[in-house]
Amino acid sequence: MMHRMDRSVYMDYAATTPVDPRVTDAMLPYLTEHFGNPNSLYTLGRDAYRALESARESIAAGVGAQPQELVFTGCGTESDNSALIGISQMAAERKSRRHIVVSAFEHHAVLHPAEWLAKNGFDLTIVSPRADGVVHPGDLRAALRDDTALVSVMAANNEIGTIQPLAELAEAAHERGALFHTDAVQALGKIPFDVSEVGVDAASFSAHKIYGPKGAGVLYLKKGTPFRPLLMGGGQEFKKRSGTQNVAGAVAFAKALELMLAEQADEAERLSALRDRVVGGVLDGIANTRLNGTGPKLPGYANLIMLGCEGESMLLQLDSKGIAVSTGSACSSGSLEPSHVLLAIGCPAEEAHGSLRVTLGRFTTDEDVDRFLEVLPPIVERLRSMNPLYERMYGA
Ligand SMILES: Cc1ncc(COP(=O)(O)O)c(C=O)c1O
Repeated sequence: MMHRMDRSVYMDYAATTPVDPRVTDAMLPYLTEHFGNPNSLYTLGRDAYRALESARESIAAGVGAQPQELVFTGCGTESDNSALIGISQMAAERKSRRHIVVSAFEHHAVLHPAEWLAKNGFDLTIVSPRADGVVHPGDLRAALRDDTALVSVMAANNEIGTIQPLAELAEAAHERGALFHTDAVQALGKIPFDVSEVGVDAASFSAHKIYGPKGAGVLYLKKGTPFRPLLMGGGQEFKKRSGTQNVAGAVAFAKALELMLAEQADEAERLSALRDRVVGGVLDGIANTRLNGTGPKLPGYANLIMLGCEGESMLLQLDSKGIAVSTGSACSSGSLEPSHVLLAIGCPAEEAHGSLRVTLGRFTTDEDVDRFLEVLPPIVERLRSMNPLYERMYGA
């Protein structure tokens, strides 16, 4: 397989994906002969402008938006930050609403700007998902206030893959006059997602989770949504995000999404079957293991706990055998804190330390799963044998 070194197995598609060669082919001309600035008036610039706008139209059609409702950004993190800060500050100014609500297992790209807002004049309420890995609409309703400006709940979680009831959550926010943003970075292209069907006011997307390049994001802002830009300057992107646009990134994003949507149904079936093999193999083959999050999940996502093992140790041992997995969100790796997502769904801290996130994708094969299921059990056994507490705590 073209993206795999000999014997190496990549099972961390939620962290990032390789760029699909069809995407590279589509974007390359905009790095070479069509290199113009889309804001220049001569032919080279106009060519780039046309490519940018056609990418915008194609992505808009893919997510059920109008083209002028999409803003190209530098990444999913920028889309999240812009939505949280840009919308909340405008809502506060125009409507004197100074309360925001986010879920406890959001990506840090949402949590940190929410905490920043809380230090800068806003009240912040954090709603916990339940043990199934789902934010229940009744729990959100209980957190809403008459002065709630914005609610942000992700479309699907990046560590456990659970899909959120967005339409109901957005409706609950709207009932109280609040706006609703969703971080759809993980969900985009993997499950049906249409901004007008779910009724969100803002949504964040990123190209590198869907076989596009890193450093290309999109922010959907429903027409009329109050918004103050984070980046000011030349007034590009309808004055909502200044900076010369990443034309090649936009073209790549559009191609990547087109492929995701064309292959969505088949891939969902294939990846769900592979995921079931991973989960079945671990739960049946290794004692004292369990799966996190019982709610509906993105195809190909599994978050497993091997009691009595350190996630980091498993990760490094798997890596030495050429298998790449994660212990949670890659963005917070390097920290030994247990995952905030697992804690949010009620997983005890000592168990959360033993978690492995396995996420499968376009280039995952049956042989990859075979290899993983062959290599993991002896690693778990060895680590447990080195843990003096294992027998006492979990032994039969
Ligand atoms: C749910 C979620 N939101 C936001 C991001 C950040 O996206 P980006 O890496 O494009 O900044 C990620 C990526 O890790 C993610 O999984």
